[in-house]
Amino acid sequence: MPTILVTGSAGFIGFYVAKTLLAAGHTVVGIDNFNAYYAAELKRARTDMLSGWGNFFPVEIDLADTGSTTRCCMEYRPEIICHLAAQAGVRYSLINPHTYERSNLAGFINLIENARSLSVKRFVYASSSSVYGGNIKLPYSEDDPVNTPVSLYAATKRANELIAYTYNHLYGLQTIGLRFFTVYGEWGRPDMAYWSFLENILNGEPIRVFNHGMNRRDFTYIDDIISGVTTSLTSIDLDGYEIINLGNNNPVELLDFIDILEELAGKPAIKQMVAAQPGDVVATYADISKARKKLGFQPETSIRQGLERFVSWYRDFPDLMKTVREHRLVGPR
Ligand SMILES: NC(=O)c1ccc[n+]([C@@H]2O[C@H](COP(=O)([O-])OP(=O)(O)OC[C@H]3O[C@@H](n4cnc5c(N)ncnc54)[C@H](O)[C@@H]3O)[C@@H](O)[C@H]2O)c1
Repeated sequence: MPTILVTGSAGFIGFYVAKTLLAAGHTVVGIDNFNAYYAAELKRARTDMLSGWGNFFPVEIDLADTGSTTRCCMEYRPEIICHLAAQAGVRYSLINPHTYERSNLAGFINLIENARSLSVKRFVYASSSSVYGGNIKLPYSEDDPVNTPVSLYAATKRANELIAYTYNHLYGLQTIGLRFFTVYGEWGRPDMAYWSFLENILNGEPIRVFNHGMNRRDFTYIDDIISGVTTSLTSIDLDGYEIINLGNNNPVELLDFIDILEELAGKPAIKQMVAAQPGDVVATYADISKARKKLGFQPETSIRQGLERFVSWYRDFPDLMKTVREHRLVGPR
């Protein structure tokens, strides 16, 4: 079985991808820099679980560091790369642009350069629904124009797709870009609304409902996403350069999503209705016909089922949730 390099293995999606690959018997090298965008304790807890497998090799480096990245790639010589590490978050990109420059641009180029020099079989990387930016046609299809990113985060993700195109064109490197749509679930991301809303509802604190609750999101449950990602690493039905939407194909109104969270929390939310935020888009909705055809992708988890699992998991880890909350109250470091 090929050795697979998973970057961002201490992150939400990377942790699940690594876990699934390890369980299938792959050797997995996991890169992460454990940055403090959200509580590093959560990243350590995920990595501790992965370290239970003898075929897991964690490497703590920053992908923006060219020398460390190259040394790691030359030491382990992966045959497939699944690049999920990035500085995520739309709003944070408005106030901290250079973090995005380092992780999402310099880090991406360092890694794809190594993919080229190692002649890896496939370079799969995380893109985002945010590349659709000012697109008003729904659902979002891979054929839609994506020249109007409305945040720096989105612009870096679109840049990744363009760089991947160039590497395929120049060097024949097979590159597969996966546009993820609002992924949620257990061991998830504390900066995202499903987590911060639950936390605030449970603590009797107000939640800020952007765009007066008019936003719609195509929330996609983690298990559904993971099946799409792992299939994309080995499927033989993919061309040299691909961009594929991975979403739920079923957008949910923000207020309906809050209703479910209130019910599961057993408490009403204190809602502060506020204007849309710069960088936000009104709706995300994935056309997944390409993913269905090429990856057999078929999301199966309703928002209620997924949130039930998330809330139940959240209640099982009170100490970790307290640490995450303390970090969030101070903000990214
Ligand atoms: N979760 C979503 O809803 C969503 C939606 C669209 C796109 N994505 C993309 O999917 C990927 C995974 O997202 P996630 O939700 O797991 O985020 P995450 O923040 O939980 O995971 C990213 C991981 O990458 C690591 N990292 C960041 N910069 C690094 C660097 N320079 N060097 C080494 N490690 C670094 C972080 O420490 C973190 O553990 C990201 O590329 C993200 O942009 C996620």
